[in-house]
Formats: sequence, structure tokens, C-alpha cells
Amino acid sequence: MYILGVNSFHGDSSACLVKDGRLVAAAEEERFRRLKHWAGFPAEAIRYCLTSEKIGLGAVTHVAVNSDGLAGFWPKLRYVISGVAGLPLLVEKIKIRQRRQGLRERLQNTFPGEELRAKIHRVEHHLAHMASSFYVSPFDEAVTVSVDGFGDFTSTCWGIANGRHIHIDGRVRFPHSLGVFYQAMTQYLGFPHYGDEYKVMGLASYGKPTYLDHMRELISLNGDGTFLLNLRYFRHQTHEIGYQWVDQEPRVSRLYSEELTSLLGPARREKDAIGGRHEAIASSVQAAYEEAFFNLLNCVQSKYALRRLALAGGCAMNSVANGKIKSKTQFQDIYVQSAAGDAGGAIGAAFAVWHRVKEKDVPFVMDHAYWGPVFSDEYINELLEQGNNRLSAERCGFEIIECEDRLCHRVLESILEGKVVGWFQGRMEWGPRALGNRSILCDPRRSDIKELLNKKIKRRESFRPFAPSIVREAVKDWFEVDDDVPFMMKVYPVRAEKRAQIPAVTHVDGSGRLQTVDKHTNPRFYRLIELFAVKTGIPILLNTSFNENEPIVCTPEEALDCFLRTKMDMLVLGNHVVFRT
Ligand SMILES: [Fe+2]
Repeated sequence: MYILGVNSFHGDSSACLVKDGRLVAAAEEERFRRLKHWAGFPAEAIRYCLTSEKIGLGAVTHVAVNSDGLAGFWPKLRYVISGVAGLPLLVEKIKIRQRRQGLRERLQNTFPGEELRAKIHRVEHHLAHMASSFYVSPFDEAVTVSVDGFGDFTSTCWGIANGRHIHIDGRVRFPHSLGVFYQAMTQYLGFPHYGDEYKVMGLASYGKPTYLDHMRELISLNGDGTFLLNLRYFRHQTHEIGYQWVDQEPRVSRLYSEELTSLLGPARREKDAIGGRHEAIASSVQAAYEEAFFNLLNCVQSKYALRRLALAGGCAMNSVANGKIKSKTQFQDIYVQSAAGDAGGAIGAAFAVWHRVKEKDVPFVMDHAYWGPVFSDEYINELLEQGNNRLSAERCGFEIIECEDRLCHRVLESILEGKVVGWFQGRMEWGPRALGNRSILCDPRRSDIKELLNKKIKRRESFRPFAPSIVREAVKDWFEVDDDVPFMMKVYPVRAEKRAQIPAVTHVDGSGRLQTVDKHTNPRFYRLIELFAVKTGIPILLNTSFNENEPIVCTPEEALDCFLRTKMDMLVLGNHVVFRT
């Protein structure tokens, strides 16, 4: 039985395929369209999923979508009748719903000549978020929480999950939302693009939360774990907030009101320099988010008295807050999958349907993120042979190294010389993080590497940290925890005595957004780090995403283009090493 999961007409549109209860393919549409966070109908991601299994649309038994226009109908109606919402906002919401309703036609038009026999299921947005974590987690029973911007008129949802059931116990509905709070403050701090919240999270470490009282004016917390936005400071509840989800990078108009500038002073413009006030506000935003997040988690934890948490939703991408869950709550096992945000809704919807229709239990745990396209060495060889003239013109050459250890040693030499290496292997990662298959790798010991990487490739803000990939067994020696973090979803403190050894991956506050690398799920990447440890005593490599201000590369062609137009020193495509002569 094939279930096609879809997140469409929403940020990070995506698709996945579940076969007989196991995930077999998943990808975000942005990788194919080459526009970050692309929103619309994910035709290319669907095409990839079907092609990877060598099936046509007719073989799909069920289609699952992570949105249900009928969910929250009564609260929505009450809101409309109250007259708070302006007419343009309502018209926009109706249009979005109509687009989502046309799924069968869009599928049929994308695959002409193939008959779609599948039943289409609509899964409420937050049920899909919760399902995207719990059903692929290693847990039989857990508390499950979704913290988000908005979906189906709800921002936050929690409940208990057991076996095949997810029981939703409570919600925070529109217009109150931690995601909107964080996004509004991200805009205020001069980062206008959809998905820029991680920049505020990085900047927060440079300041002290001296504006926390101001933030408490924006969000008030309740004893039951819920929260309220002070709507004086926001405008999403009354205006046509242009969340534009149609075949483009999502665009969001201003979420905060003029009152916010009266409270905090003028907003930063995108080109303005970042000063101490911005760092302090960023720190206060993060602190206020954490207050609300832990208030919620502590309330639900004490209610259910369970120590396992399956977390999802856009705010579950806040890896700094996630890293504090163990110390700030009684939760001790926390699962967050690699696409915790809306892209993940595709697998949540698919697994929610699987658990409704299945005839037998099938064990499945998502313990790695490698669900995207893969390219054979023959394909790569042909590409390089065909592009040989171009390579020569750029003073580049390539060689094939079949032996894995020899290949790793060749790469290692470059890394030890302070070179920047593009590392393209196996299946593309699912979710926004490069996890060793579409990565750029460097020596974590070099204090000048951030500057070097930004000069050579990334050109990104100087306050953003680079991440350490560490072999799983060594985590406790280098970090103040011993935990699995396969998807870079938790930030933990680097041990104080180790920080000076890995300055390139230690953030200004002494933390690191680590990826734990497992021998079984990515043996080649594990071997490379292991060999680096033999040479240096440090079982860690700097790992940043393989891209240059664009979505992470998907194909070898894109990797080669990125290599040639930047100053990357070496490119490894499977067993092929491309080097500059
Ligand atoms: Fe969402």
C-alpha cells in the first residue's frame, strides 16, 4: 500500500511516500524549484517520490494532506462574525482553501494519462504535525506537542499519543501564536524573509535579555500552559497578512503594529548595522519564547506524568530551546524529526492515514534523514566527463577513488590543510539541515574558519554559528550531555575545557548545534570523522550546508556549479574527487 503525503500551498511545500507503513522517500519542493521555502503545489517532489519507487500515480492507494479546511470551522466562524477580521483577510483565506481543494485535479494534470484512483484524506494541520513526530519516533507512548505559526486556525496543540492513537487534549487558537510572536520580532529586527527566525536565535547569544519585561508586555502566560498575545502590538488578526503560498518563495507582510515601535524604538532596516540594542532584543525574544515554551511543556508534563516528548511544528526548529528541555522540565527523552516544520506535515499526514487504515502493525523509526534523490557514480562520471572542458578551463581536474578509506584520507589531507570541501554523497537530506550528504566540511580547530567560509562561499551574517558533526560515542566527552541528536535539532553546551580546541564550531555562548553521526546510518561520513579523530584527537568536523544563498544543492550538477562559482577547494561527488590544480 502506497500513501502519498503532501504539504501544499504552505511554506516548505513537500511530498513523501509511505509504503506498507515505512517511509521510502521524502523531499521538499524548494530543492527542485531552487527557491527557498517554496510554497505551492509540490509537483516535482511528488514526481521524485513516485519515480524513486518506479511507480505511477495509479499505484497510490491514499493521498494524505496536512490541512483540513473544515477543522476549526466553528471558532473560525465565530471569529468572522465578531467582525475583527477585515474583508481582504477573509477573501485570502477562502482563496487558499479553494486552491487546496483542487488537489485531485492538480495531481491529474501533473500526471496526464495516469488515473488517480486513490482516496484523498485531509488531516488537520496540528494532528499532522504531532503525527510527523510521534509515529516515526521510537516511542510507544509519549506526550506530543505542536508549537507553530498557524495551521487550520490553531497555533499550538498538545495531547497524549499511545500505540496508534493521538489524542488531542488542548489547543491555542488564532490569533495567539508563539510562531507569529517570533516571526514578528524577526521582522522587527530587520530579517524580512520567511524562515529567518534562526538568525534571531543565533543573534540572541550575543546579548542579555534586558528587554524581557517588554516582551512580557507582548505575551502573557496562563497557569494552564497557554498564552495570549497582546494584540495591540500585532496586525495579523485584522489585516490581510500576505502569506502568499502560490508557486513562489512565501512572502509575509508586516506582522507587528506601530505600537511595537512605540514600545521598543525604531525597527531595524535590513541594511542597518546590528548594534547592542538589537542583540539585547534578540536575546529577550528568545528568553520570552522559552518562558512560554517551558510553561507549556511543564504544564503538559505534570498532567500526563510521562517523560517522553514527541515535538513538532515550526517552533520545534528552535534548537536552542529544545536543548534546554531536559534541564527545564521533567521530559528526558525528546524526539524531533529533521523536518519538524510544515514540510514534515507531509509525513505526518501520511502516517496518520496509515495508522487509520493499516491491517497490521509495522515497526518504523525515522533514525536518519536520507530520504531524497540519489545519483549513481556512473551518472556522476558521465557528468564530469562531459564537463571536462569546463573543468580544464577552470583549472580543475578529477579522479575516481573506489576505496573508501583512500577516498577519506584524500579528503582528510585537504581538511587538515585548512581547505573547504564540498561533500556530496548518497541520498539528499529531508529537512533544512545538511547532515553529511549535501555538506561543506572544514577543520573545526581553526579560529579563522568562519571568516574564511564566509569569504569563500557563504557570505552570511557574521553572528551565525557553524555546526559540529561528532561521532555518537564521543558526545559525552565534548558536550555536557550524552544524547542522540541526529538531526541537529538541539543545541547543547560544549564542555568548558574543550571549547578552545574547537573554536570554529563553538558559538559565542559556549554552545554547539551538534549533529551526532551514527556508524550505521551514515558509515562513510562516520569513517571520515573517525579518521580525522585519529589524526587530531578530535572526533568532530565542521559541517555547513552545501549551498550559496540558495536551497541546499540536490543534484551533482548543482554541486558542481556551486563548486565552480565559489572558491571551494575540493568537491567530492560519491567516489569522484574534483580538485583545483
Ligand atoms: Fe505548521
